[in-house]
Amino acid sequence: MAVTVNTQRLMGELEHLATISEVEPPAITRVVYSDADGLAREWFAGLCSKAGLAVRNDAVGNVFVRWEGLEPSLPAIGTGSHIDAIPYAGAYDGTVGVLGGLEAIRSLKESGYQPRRSVELLLFTAEEPTRFGIGCFGSRLLSGALDAGADQRLKDAEGRSLEELRTAAGFTGSIESVRLGEDYYAAFVELHIEQGPLLEREGIPIGIVTNIAAPSGLRITFEGEGGHAGALLMPYRKDAFCAAAEIVLAVEKAAKGTGAIDTCGTVGKCAIYPGAVNSVPSRVVMEVDVRDTDEARRDGVLTEIGAACREVEERRGVKISIEQVNADAPAEASPAIVNAIADTAGELGVAAKKMVSRAYHDSLFMARMAPMGMIFIPCRDGVSHRPDEYASPEDITRGVAVLAGTLARLAAV
Ligand code: GLV
Ligand code: MN
Ligand code: MN
Repeated sequence: MAVTVNTQRLMGELEHLATISEVEPPAITRVVYSDADGLAREWFAGLCSKAGLAVRNDAVGNVFVRWEGLEPSLPAIGTGSHIDAIPYAGAYDGTVGVLGGLEAIRSLKESGYQPRRSVELLLFTAEEPTRFGIGCFGSRLLSGALDAGADQRLKDAEGRSLEELRTAAGFTGSIESVRLGEDYYAAFVELHIEQGPLLEREGIPIGIVTNIAAPSGLRITFEGEGGHAGALLMPYRKDAFCAAAEIVLAVEKAAKGTGAIDTCGTVGKCAIYPGAVNSVPSRVVMEVDVRDTDEARRDGVLTEIGAACREVEERRGVKISIEQVNADAPAEASPAIVNAIADTAGELGVAAKKMVSRAYHDSLFMARMAPMGMIFIPCRDGVSHRPDEYASPEDITRGVAVLAGTLARLAAV
């Protein structure tokens, strides 16, 4: 069905959300359980209440915004995304799926549509791995992919546990209570910017995700020997950062070495101790991100990185320990939802193409508990995770219209 999307209302909200940040504009940093995250959540809940929707938070702050259907006991149709933003991010990653999801519901309501199944908009807690080093932890817990021990085990850089931080942010209750039943949702659909260049390059306004690549993360700790930068002579060094530098290049080599364009390896985080220009690094902790559409090939890269660590450890006398933070399976979209999105785009006269998501999303975990689908819209030059990330009002509006039509189809059966 065709709805009238209120573009001005939605763009005004996206612009407002972008002002709730820990850093100066145009960059946006909104780390989970920070003051900015709290303010953004409060403002968002106000918007939902104003739209006549019931708002519930779970014990980690996943937010459920419910539009009750005519048959409320039926499994609901879920949509949504995240509003946390990595350091120095842009304004559209995740937010388009949350505020666009709200706009889809409001535009369906305003058109007089009555869903048979309830429609639930989710704001997932911490899709980004910034604070705890693991992505999608809200949806991991919802789907049972993360055990209750995470409450104590997950710690931020200052050593504060998930339990301590969520409690301070006002989210209490048992971590076990977060998990939802397998039949809670009949379907889940997420709207997101593509974060890559293909739609824009091909002039196609809608992407229909068929599968999501398999992500993994390693935390590698290097323990060498520190000392004075002038007095500790070169032949006697066990420099932890020199060892780490070799592994950074080994990650790149292993990822490129598969020969597949779908393999990516990144070292995006590295802390050096004690962190003084005149002190030999004694300890380094770095975080590694490896992904591939092919899980076995991704695992091959992880094995190769492990072998490089053993070789460097032996040769340099620096102790290297590897913690596998996550190694998740890829997800496939449900053919029924792919068809529902394609039919809606066709009905609205909007061109669409099927594509892979190389970025991960909460949909990766929602796929474990419900048939899943994703709608992509173009973003300028394929740029994401940068302050200059941009999606046009026209593309956002088309994405919301396709989402609304898809939700209407799914909620009617
Ligand atoms: C999500 O932000 C990702 O890193 O894919
Ligand atoms: Mn992101
Ligand atoms: Mn995202």
